[in-house]
Amino acid sequence: MTKLKNDTLIRALLRQPTPYTPVWIMRQAGRYLPEYNATRARAGSFLGLCKNPDYAVEVTLQPLARFALDAAIVFSDILTIPDAMGLGLAFAEGEGPRFERPLRDEHDIRRLRVPVPGEDLRYVLETVRQARKALDGKVPLIGFCGSPYTLACYMVEGRGSSDFPAVKAMLRDRPELLHHILDVNARATIAYLNAQIEAGAQVVMIFDTWGGMLGATRYGEFSLDYMRRVVAGLKREHEGERIPSILFTRGAGDSLEALAASGCSAVGIDWTVDLRSARERVGERVALQGNLDPAVLLSGPDAVRAGVAAVLEAFGRGAGHVFNLGHGISQHTPVESMQALVNTVHEASRAYH
Ligand code: CP3
Repeated sequence: MTKLKNDTLIRALLRQPTPYTPVWIMRQAGRYLPEYNATRARAGSFLGLCKNPDYAVEVTLQPLARFALDAAIVFSDILTIPDAMGLGLAFAEGEGPRFERPLRDEHDIRRLRVPVPGEDLRYVLETVRQARKALDGKVPLIGFCGSPYTLACYMVEGRGSSDFPAVKAMLRDRPELLHHILDVNARATIAYLNAQIEAGAQVVMIFDTWGGMLGATRYGEFSLDYMRRVVAGLKREHEGERIPSILFTRGAGDSLEALAASGCSAVGIDWTVDLRSARERVGERVALQGNLDPAVLLSGPDAVRAGVAAVLEAFGRGAGHVFNLGHGISQHTPVESMQALVNTVHEASRAYH
């Protein structure tokens, strides 16, 4: 494999010195880019786009053609695993994900099987291989998956929700069934991420979008314990290179110390947390990724420059920061805001290194 020409992201994740702060953006390939919408239209649907490696590689590379980003992230979705488990994933236009067969009864839950990545998720691995080849060492490629708990939220509820009532009912009435799903999901994500690493992913990230809804007391039992298991099961090295891992839980500011002790290389910080105090609390143990409020990008380039400066100042001097938003980029983001963000991070961060 080609050697990396820009290894700033890898170095920052391992808390090694870099000349500037590397930057990439969660959902950097998405609907705010006109070229993404054009490819998606050609693919026919979002899932059609994910499942066709030619299209998926094309959109993976689109944001890198416009912006001087320090990483690419494989274009896919966290719900590929439950889809491969046979739950019947569909994306209704403008409504987000839906499962035809949500997990509600014990019989279905006990029958749940771990997908075989090389068969059931071959299209994702093919996208990873082709994207890595197309990048030719320009920047590292990030592979990803959802956390066992966040996947379970969609699998049980059957759709996105603001409060996931079916999940909460199972948690209260049949916690052992939820634990069974979480156990299967943990084994599935370990196999899936390791397969992505073998196919060429140079960093892996676990998205725990809904762990925060558990509250600090139950977060450990239902989300963090399973992510810890996943991290422990990951390949640490591939072809002589370290493979850093990033854990991101939205809304878990209270549990930063526990997250940092999970064995991961870096913790993603949402925009509700003060990055300065996050660094004081866990910055000696892990790198930090984040955490500009995605809404700032809707206020134009001047607001973006000020917002970037504030995040860089909050982290302060030294190694171990990866610039990102505190959650995924909005589809309503003007492209000029993204341009201003990337350029400002690269220029203004040099003073901190
Ligand atoms: O970061 C990237 O550029 C890689 C691609 C990526 C997507 N989804 C593409 C996508 C990643 C990393 C994800 C992760 C994901 N998917 C998460 C966790 C991250 C987070 O946001 O907290 C979750 C919860 C999902 C599930 C999911 N997929 C939802 C809830 C939706 C609907 C969102 C919406 O705004 O309609 C999706 C669809 C999706 N995944 C889109 C993209 C670009 C938009 C689909 C489209 O083109 O219509």
